[in-house]
Parts: sequence; structure tokens; C-alpha cells
Amino acid sequence: MATQQTPAARDETLQLLVRQIRFEGRGINSYELVDPAGADLPPFTPGAHIDIHLGDGLVRQYSLSNSPDEQKRYVIAVLRDERGRGGSKALHERLRVQDLVRVSRPRNNFHLVGDARKVILLAGGIGVTPLKSMAHRLEQAGVDYEMHYCAKDASCTAFGAELEPMRANGRLHFHFDGGNPAAGLNIVELLSEPAQGKHVYYCGPGGFMNACAEATGHWPAGTVHFEHFKAPERAGSSPAANDAVDSFSVKIASTGQVIEVSKDQSIADALEDAGVAIETSCRAGLCGTCKVRYLSGEVEHNDCILGDDEKSTCLTTCVSRATTRELVLDL
Ligand code: FES
Repeated sequence: MATQQTPAARDETLQLLVRQIRFEGRGINSYELVDPAGADLPPFTPGAHIDIHLGDGLVRQYSLSNSPDEQKRYVIAVLRDERGRGGSKALHERLRVQDLVRVSRPRNNFHLVGDARKVILLAGGIGVTPLKSMAHRLEQAGVDYEMHYCAKDASCTAFGAELEPMRANGRLHFHFDGGNPAAGLNIVELLSEPAQGKHVYYCGPGGFMNACAEATGHWPAGTVHFEHFKAPERAGSSPAANDAVDSFSVKIASTGQVIEVSKDQSIADALEDAGVAIETSCRAGLCGTCKVRYLSGEVEHNDCILGDDEKSTCLTTCVSRATTRELVLDL
């Protein structure tokens, strides 16, 4: 599905030059984006992503993989996914060196916690991109960390030369499974012992995410951090349909306006149709751009980013549904 942004969001985009495209591994290219005049770029923190506007209304989110200490460039890596929604294919086919491309300012839903004593970074395939940026920061800050990079084989990995110093100093470990996850890293064993001040961050494809989630079920709240790069399969179709009521209404607290949300509409769609500006980006519950506070009603969340502490006060308007007849939004 193509994603859209409101005019306000579009005003905040940057026009960047594609300075380099590099083959990284099987199906993986990295793209180095710079200011055309060589100016510094807006700063970012490890785990941040940018939206890339690919034309024809297509907008996709990609994590920044380079060191946040670099001020002159953003680097993303993109795995061409033939069965995906078309963003990675379009990027591989359309973007050329010297092109100008419109991107958002960096946003971050996958923050590094500042006071960790020990950090485990767990990457599944192209999920390495945000974790590589984190590794640069942890390395530079002298934090005790280890990184595990799981892939089918060496030809499927990215950033080999840049990661080599971390491999050489014993921080980075590669795990190749030949396509059989059971033959790869024993995630359960690796994550068997949580400890005070120990945090884990993981990102990868669906099966990998499930394995990491199961292996961290006993970790204390606030010590497990993850980011999906693809919405997981959900029961029912989207808009989600588990306990949610088919249609419901949302009330704008500041104006009292009541807007009906039909069973085929997202809350974001209904708000936009009613002339209520809401910024969106991924439209898949992955980026947090469309997050709003709600004041009453029960929510079926369906997103991949809100923490348990946020779910009682916030929802994502692109995928959340109501399980009550009305939600009151703090707009
Ligand atoms: S637009 Fe990305 S979470 Fe809703």
C-alpha cells in the first residue's frame, strides 16, 4: 500500500543527493545520502529511521545504519524483497547516483537506553541496519556490548568492511544457518540470563522476531527493545479484526466533533476524510508517526511500536481499532 503524508509533514522533508550506491550482499544495496551543497544534515540518534519518497506517492521507512556521530551523510541499506509491497524494488530500480531524493528528518522509535551496563544487539538479516548504528555509538561510548548477526551465509550480510573492526575485537559474532534457523544461533540460550542493567535490542524478519520475543519473556520490563521492519501477520485482515467492533466513532476532545470510522477504514483515513489533519507515514503500525493520545474508550492496538506503558494512553491511528463504540481522542 502506498503511504501518504499531510502537507505539514511534507514541508519538513529534505532534498538529498544520492552520492553513492554500493553493493553490500546478495540483494542488498546501501545508499549514501548527502546534502547537495555539502551542509551538515539534521542529527540523528542510534535506531532512527527516515522516510524516503520514491515517487507516485510511495513512501517507505529505512533505518539509518551509519554512526550518529557522522554529520554529513545518512546511510541506509535495502534488501530487495520481490514479495514485498514494492518499496524495496522501486528503490533498487529507480534510485541512481546523482539523483535527488526527498526524505524526512530522522525519527526514532527504537532508542538506546542511556544507562545500560551490558547491551546485546541481535540482528536477523537486513535487521542489522539500526543495530549497526547502535554498535557504533556503544563502541564510541565504551559500553560493554556484544552483537550477533544472523544470516543464511556470508554472501547475505551487509557492511562487511565496516563491521570488521567489531568482529576483530570480539564484539561482533556472525551466525550462519544455511537457511535452517535451527542450525543457527541458539537464541534461547543466549538470552537465558537477564541481569541488572542488561538490555537486549533485536530487529529482523518475522520468525526471528518471534524467537527473540519468546526467549525474552522472562526479562524485566523495560530491558527488551525491538523494531519490526515489516508488519507481522495478523489474524483477520487489515484494518484488524480481532476483538474490535466493526464500526465505531471517534470524538475530537477539543471540538466535540464526532467522526464515524467504518469497518473498512482506519482511524487516520476517517480523520482525514473529515478534514482533521493527522500526520502518517508507514500506515502499518511500524513508525509511530500517527500516534495520538486517547482519553476514553477501549483500544485494540495492532501496532508494533507502543510499549505496554503507552498503550493505556496512546494509539496509532493507522492500525488501532476500538473495542467500544466510541473513542475520545486528545486532539
Ligand atoms: S503511520 Fe506509522 S505507525 Fe501509523
